[in-house]
Amino acid sequence: MNAKLSFDPVAQLETECLAVAVVDEGTAKEPRPALLTDDAAIRSAAADLLSSREVTGKIFETVMVHRPAGLKARRLLLVGGGRAKNFSAYELRKVAGTAVRFLKPKSIKALAFLAPANWGGSADQAAHSTLVAERRGPAEAVKAIVEGAFVADFDPDFYRSDRKDQRMGEITVVAAASSDRKSLERALEEGRIVGESQNFTRELVNEPGNRMTPTILARRATEMVKEVSARANGAKLTAEVLGGDKIRELKMGAFWSVAQGSDEPPALIVIRYEPAGAPASPTIGLVGKGITFDTGGISIKPSDGMEKMKYDMAGGAAMLGAMRAIAQLGIKVRVIAMVCATENMPSGKAQKPGDVQIAMSGKSIEIINTDAEGRLVLADGLHYARQLGATHLIDAATLTGACVVALGGVNAGVFANNEEMFQRFAGALKVSGEKMWRLPLDEEYFEQIRSGIADIKNTGGRGAGAVTAAMFLKEFAEQTPWIHLDIAGTAWMDDNKAWIAAGPSGVAVRTLVEFVRSFENAAN
Ligand code: BES
Ligand code: MN
Ligand code: ZN
Repeated sequence: MNAKLSFDPVAQLETECLAVAVVDEGTAKEPRPALLTDDAAIRSAAADLLSSREVTGKIFETVMVHRPAGLKARRLLLVGGGRAKNFSAYELRKVAGTAVRFLKPKSIKALAFLAPANWGGSADQAAHSTLVAERRGPAEAVKAIVEGAFVADFDPDFYRSDRKDQRMGEITVVAAASSDRKSLERALEEGRIVGESQNFTRELVNEPGNRMTPTILARRATEMVKEVSARANGAKLTAEVLGGDKIRELKMGAFWSVAQGSDEPPALIVIRYEPAGAPASPTIGLVGKGITFDTGGISIKPSDGMEKMKYDMAGGAAMLGAMRAIAQLGIKVRVIAMVCATENMPSGKAQKPGDVQIAMSGKSIEIINTDAEGRLVLADGLHYARQLGATHLIDAATLTGACVVALGGVNAGVFANNEEMFQRFAGALKVSGEKMWRLPLDEEYFEQIRSGIADIKNTGGRGAGAVTAAMFLKEFAEQTPWIHLDIAGTAWMDDNKAWIAAGPSGVAVRTLVEFVRSFENAAN
C-alpha cells in the first residue's frame, strides 16, 4: 500500500472514497454525532445523514453514501469513533483500520482519510493521561491513521488458492493546508514503517511449523537485515546466526535441552543495531521466544488445538519486527536482539522429566515438565544478551496458558524487576496504544520453583503459573533492569475485528519501538 499526504481542499479531492471520523458528543440516551472536521463542504454533504439518526458516532459504525453533494469524492464514508471525550490516537488507529477493512472486500483500492481537526484535548483527557493528551497533535493523528491502515490491510489467508488480492492500493491522509508539512511527512513515514514492521511480524507468525523452521526463521531474519541495511537512510543492522554446535560450545544447556529432541537444527539469531552517534550505554537487549512448533516434548500436549502452537515463535518474531522498525526509523539507541529458535519435539533424543540441565549462567535446572520449554530457551538468551553488553532487557514470549486464563486476549502480561524500567515501559504503552497489565513478582513465589536436587525447577505447580514462569526468568535477568512480556493470549486472535483480521496480531512491536525511542527522547 502506498501512503501519501494531501493538503488540498477536501471538496476538490478526487478519490474513490473519502472517510471521515464521527464521534458522539451526546449521552447514552441521546447520541449527538459530530464530524471530526470543520470543513464546510463535508459538513454540508453529511448534514442530512447526521440528522437522520442513522449515524450515531458509535465506535466502528460505518455508513457510506455515493456521490456526496458538493464533493468531488465518489463516496463519503463516515466511521464511528465512539465517545468524543475518550477519542484518542488509540481509537483513531482503529477507526482508520475500520475504514480500510470496510472497503477492502468491495474492491475499492484507494481511500482518502481526513485527519481530524481539533481532536481531543478536553480537560477530562488531560487528567486521565497527560502523555496521550500531549501527543494529540496533527502529526500524531497522521501517524495513527497510517499505522491503523497498514495493520488493517493485512489478511492471513496466504495459502488459499482463491485468495483475492484485495490489498488497498493507496491511502491519502488529508491534512489542513496550514499544517507543518515537514513534520506530517515524517509522521506519515513513521506510521508506514511501524505498520509494515508489525505486519512483517504477523507474516512470520502466520507461517505453519513446516514452513517456519528455525532455519527458515533465521533466513527471514537475515534477509530482513540485508534489506533494511541496503536502504540509503536506514542505519545498519548486522545479523549472526549461531547453530547447534555453537549453542553447545557456549554451554547453553537450557536452550540445548529443548533443541536436542528435534531433527530440525536450532538457531540463535543475534541482530545488532549500533547507530553512529549512539552512546554505548544504554544497550537494550530484546530476547524473543522462537519455538517454531511446540508439541510439548515428552510431556506432550493433547492433540486438540495443538496446531495453534505454530505461533509459539511470536515473541521472537516481535523482536525482529521491532528491529526492522527501529533501524528504519534511525533511532539513535543501541539495541541487540536475540531470537532463541528451536522446535520442541518428543523423540529418542528428547529430554525427559527429571533430567537436570546446567544453564549458561551455571544454574542447575530440574526439568519437571518438558512443555515448560520457553523459559529454558529464554534463560540462556537473557544470560547471553547480558554477556553481550545489554544494560536493559526485555523479553517477549508466548509463555504460559496461565496468562491466557488470567488476562485472556485483551491484555498481555507485563512483569518487571525494576520500577524505573516499568514506568518507562508504561509510558511506551500509552504512546503505542497496546494493552498490557502488570502482574507481580513477589519473592514468596520463588518457593514454588525451588528444587530438591537442583537450584531451580522449570514448573511451579498449579497456582500463579504466569508468575512462576516469570520468576524463573527473573533468576537469569539477575540485577539487570528487565521486563518480561507474556503474550500467549494476545499474539493470536481467534476472531475478526472491525479494524484487524483474525490471526497473528503482531503485538508488542509498536511498544518495543516506543520503549527504545524513549531512551533517545529523554537522554536517559
Ligand atoms: N507455548 C506454551 C504456552 C501457550 C499456551 C502459548 C497457550 C499460547 C497459548 C508453553 O510452552 C507451555 O506449554 N506452557 C505450559 C507451562 C506448564 C507446563 C507449566 C502451560 O502453560 O501449560
Ligand atoms: Mn510448551
Ligand atoms: Zn511453548
